[in-house]
Amino acid sequence: QCGIAVESRIDCGRDRSLSRADCEGRGCCYVPLPQSGLGGPPWCFYPVRYPGYKMGPLLPTEKGQRATLARSEPSYLPRDIPTLQLDVMPETLGRLHLTLKDPASPRYEVPFVTSQSRGHKDIQNPLYDVDFQPDPFGFIVRRKSNGRVLLNTTIGPLLFADQYLQLSTSMASSAISGLGEHYTPITLDLNWSSVSLWNRDMAPHVRPSHHFTFFFNFVLLLSKMAYYVGLLFKSKNLDNLPIAEVFLQPAPALTWVTVGGILDFYIFLGPSPQSVVQQYHEVIGYPMMPPYWSLGFHLCRWGYTSTNITRTVVQLMRQAKIPLDVQWNDLDYADQRRVFTFDPQRFGDLPQMVEEFHQLGMKYVLILDPGISSASPPGSYKPFDDGLKRGVFIKNSTGQILIGKVWPGPTAFPDFTNPTTQDWWMDCIRVFHSKVPVDGLWIDMNEPSNFVQGSVDGCPDSDLEKPPYTPGVIGGQLNSGTLCVSAQQYLSNHYNLHNLYGLTEAIATHRALLKVKSTRPFVLSRSSFPGLGRFSAHWTGDVRSDWEQLRFSIPGVLLFGLYGIPLVGADVCGFGGDTTEELCVRWTQLGAFYPFMRNHNDRPNAPQEPYVFSQQAQDAMRTAITLRYSLLPFLYTLFHHTHSSSSTVARPLFLEFPTDPNCQSIDRQFLWGSSLLISPVLEEGAVQVTAYLPPGTWYSLHNVIPPLILLHIVISYCSKGQCILFPAPLDTINVHVREGSIIPQQVPALTTTASRRNPFTLIVALSVGNWAKGELFWDDGESLDTFEHGHYSYVLFFAQEVQNRVNFVKLNGSLDGLVLGEVRVFGVQASPTAVWANGQKVHDFSYSPDTKVCNKCLCFILIFKMC
Ligand code: NOJ
Repeated sequence: QCGIAVESRIDCGRDRSLSRADCEGRGCCYVPLPQSGLGGPPWCFYPVRYPGYKMGPLLPTEKGQRATLARSEPSYLPRDIPTLQLDVMPETLGRLHLTLKDPASPRYEVPFVTSQSRGHKDIQNPLYDVDFQPDPFGFIVRRKSNGRVLLNTTIGPLLFADQYLQLSTSMASSAISGLGEHYTPITLDLNWSSVSLWNRDMAPHVRPSHHFTFFFNFVLLLSKMAYYVGLLFKSKNLDNLPIAEVFLQPAPALTWVTVGGILDFYIFLGPSPQSVVQQYHEVIGYPMMPPYWSLGFHLCRWGYTSTNITRTVVQLMRQAKIPLDVQWNDLDYADQRRVFTFDPQRFGDLPQMVEEFHQLGMKYVLILDPGISSASPPGSYKPFDDGLKRGVFIKNSTGQILIGKVWPGPTAFPDFTNPTTQDWWMDCIRVFHSKVPVDGLWIDMNEPSNFVQGSVDGCPDSDLEKPPYTPGVIGGQLNSGTLCVSAQQYLSNHYNLHNLYGLTEAIATHRALLKVKSTRPFVLSRSSFPGLGRFSAHWTGDVRSDWEQLRFSIPGVLLFGLYGIPLVGADVCGFGGDTTEELCVRWTQLGAFYPFMRNHNDRPNAPQEPYVFSQQAQDAMRTAITLRYSLLPFLYTLFHHTHSSSSTVARPLFLEFPTDPNCQSIDRQFLWGSSLLISPVLEEGAVQVTAYLPPGTWYSLHNVIPPLILLHIVISYCSKGQCILFPAPLDTINVHVREGSIIPQQVPALTTTASRRNPFTLIVALSVGNWAKGELFWDDGESLDTFEHGHYSYVLFFAQEVQNRVNFVKLNGSLDGLVLGEVRVFGVQASPTAVWANGQKVHDFSYSPDTKVCNKCLCFILIFKMC
């Protein structure tokens, strides 16, 4: 019974450390290991078939099947739940949903977390098979096509008590990505590591690695056959939202522990990784379509202490001729740091400044913290007075308003689960917007963050504040750095709702902007939760200005694409500490390929706006940002696809090349869609970069910025799936176009307002098979639901052996007045004898025999190079 391989031991003392006597008292195996310190394999582990629940017969229900599970003996946990209800709901061919709950306890439903889950007992021929082990209860999910076991929960017992739930499963692969926002490579460490899922105000850092800060409960697993499977622990019931902890071990296996609620999970069968992601997004909701301007360059700093300073920043950016779409202000604008006010001295002409920015074709965003100052004299601060009257704030366990401390001093926290709060928030935003016409809002500190533990009056001594088992959180208690978890909200207590705080604020803010502006809202939220991408963008918090954080920003950004929050980026050049010129150049180059690009800096640090650096550095930054601007039509089209069909924007290589084992753990390079490969410099002093090129022909794109194309730098690489050393001097980020792609570009400008009026150009990167294709989604860039209402244009581009064709699938006038200025074809083997466009001979086309690039080749004769 105890002869279990070390890597497969499931810890029997997860909830507390056990002596041999305690361990054996639980009926577990105690087998010490010679060199096992903290965090290694357990000495006390469950024997095979450790007694647990016994499963009754499976009976049909409307949505699938149901069985009752019962324990004959209580487990070792306090307040054990003896009888459980199992529901098995095959929802689609590739999606299976299982829940385990206490049938005696009623559950709330969260109205705003949508799930398109519909159980269907009649699904014919799903991709999965499920087998049950009745005693002790466990289940095994297999992929029907090859019989491969994807999950097996019989490897450990199911535990289900009032404040402790545990389920273990084997996994089909050791290559695992997901489980929220954390400071790790893209593939998770299975060497006895753990992840806590509890939103926390915490700068990203390496150790202790189990203190992760943001809640996401989705894992993407790669199986050896390059079939992927996803696993989501989720519920539309509130009661499984408290803190969760996931333990990973080399078996490979994971153990899921929560301190309340129910067990509710989905299994997504893929089989491709992209289809796993799609199946996941079908449950949590597809991402929003961002306004076009939000894809431009954003500039911020905590420390632009007046409108004049902020104006000067914009002026200097324009003088330096570096594109800037969105100027931001941090808390500096607010009168005594109270949101919905602006400092009468330093920011007295804020409304006028915003108008000036609008005149320049720019946008303006400012910060909004949820903490509402509660210490202003009555009658002097309307948001608080009004909120008090309308009962919008979170209360402590005795029904008084819970007061914590954030930037303005004592603060109350709006309860966004309360519909009255959502209306009050909208009113606050409406009144403020009528004075300061902001274009978007930045919701910060919304874990929620609190500078005192729980509240200024402390927290009660209760089982909620101190559960029998507290998962690993910084500070050791659930209320560390946040509210008392016994605090009362409209829908439930904060214990259940904590992880939802940022999402609920994002929903309220999105809704308010939508009503006030009637255009696509832009919201940037620090705290995240599944479904956030429908309402908000996200940035990765207070990253330090150093090379390590630059590197880790890539997996951070890529994971959020999988989580359905594609509009994401890290603070370019770093937020904490002084940047250096070289780091800031390299970060700007990488940031030019974050889906969301904002340079943001903390008050005491050396300035890091592009114009403060040497001419050489400015040139390099301008090149990178301008390259981004030229590619915005392509980026916007990718966002359309993620919004309409849930593909990813910034994409890990394994998503695009799932059968290429070399791509499995690459997180120093990434793709935009399926066509652009980005290989940034991430090391200090490096002027070369080693990049992996998946098999095929790739064309170097760096510096191909219309209309300034430099012919001599377009080089093609024929890769067999190999690493290549590329030159990467300070002015260069390596970007390669994949054969077979057509990339729409637009002549860049200092803002997207201007660039959107410029001519388009096309890069046609021919494949060995003599073709290339691409597409463009285009609308007015800001109206609501243009795709849903059909108010857009959609163009398909094809290059075939003899000609390029443009197929206008849908036209609505949004392209009126815009021209296709140039077409550049990469990979033309010999000089075309003639070029025709729209039936007319083109006389000024050019062809470079060295680079095989043909310009103005709207129509051409092709001779292909074989790879
Ligand atoms: C914390 C945020 O993470 C940071 O970006 C911001 O500058 C400060 N709060 C001040 O508002």
